[in-house]
Amino acid sequence: MSDAIVMNALAKTYPGGQRALNDLTLSVREGEIFGFLGPNGAGKTTTIKILLGLLSATSGDVRVLGGSPADPETRQQVGYLPEVANYYEFMNIRELLRFYGALCGMSAQDIRKRTEEMLELTGLTEHVRKPLKTYSKGMLQRAGIAQSLFHDPDLLILDEPTTGLDPLARIEVREVMRCLREAGKTVFFSSHELSEAETVCDRVGILKEGVLRWCGPTSEVVGTGERNLERVFLDIIGDGENRK
Ligand SMILES: Nc1ncnc2c1ncn2[C@@H]1O[C@H](COP(=O)(O)OP(=O)(O)O)[C@@H](O)[C@H]1O
Ligand SMILES: [Mg+2]
Repeated sequence: MSDAIVMNALAKTYPGGQRALNDLTLSVREGEIFGFLGPNGAGKTTTIKILLGLLSATSGDVRVLGGSPADPETRQQVGYLPEVANYYEFMNIRELLRFYGALCGMSAQDIRKRTEEMLELTGLTEHVRKPLKTYSKGMLQRAGIAQSLFHDPDLLILDEPTTGLDPLARIEVREVMRCLREAGKTVFFSSHELSEAETVCDRVGILKEGVLRWCGPTSEVVGTGERNLERVFLDIIGDGENRK
């Protein structure tokens, strides 16, 4: 199996001189759920923006699905849920998806079919009539996932998909991620909370101050008693720093 994402010695220094990433080397395999963990300010969003071609790296190489991130062919195969998403709040979910499908150049027939599939996957079928402004945070996040998946991408990149959600909504988002893995998709998501990774990820990477401090299979560190993932995470990021 090939790699969905390959980052090699990636570095990013912002124009003001802020160094956000330093020598990041990391691969994500096709079909896995990869948790990209680290405290606030670690460089997660910067990495994601580079993977999407929204930001260029200062040095290093990035390949996404075998191509360059900014290449239109690559972009067509990538779905993205931003950290903060804004929706036209007077729309309902069907209207949002129809609007997005039209932007992607899909036919009316494809849009109808895909809308029903996405509503089912995200469990929003019963909420189709409500305007998005009446949605809870969890429902909005699921609506965002439905949108990011609408054009049937192979790789889904989610920036802090469970931040700010209540426990039930978190479980629902994780459930959607599992369904995606079953469908053969690759999921790369960031979180500053380790508990998000433990139950859903095949592998995790832990970033601190722009440096990858640990990377490996979740199973290697979960359930081994004293050295569980939480311990590893806290050791790596340093006590207290994850509570910014
Ligand atoms: N546009 C920007 N200009 C300058 N510095 C930035 C910019 N965006 C992010 N940073 C800095 O880069 C570092 C990493 O930020 P970010 O990638 O947003 O981290 P995370 O998503 O892990 O919270 C932080 O120190 C942040 O202040
Ligand atoms: Mg971020």
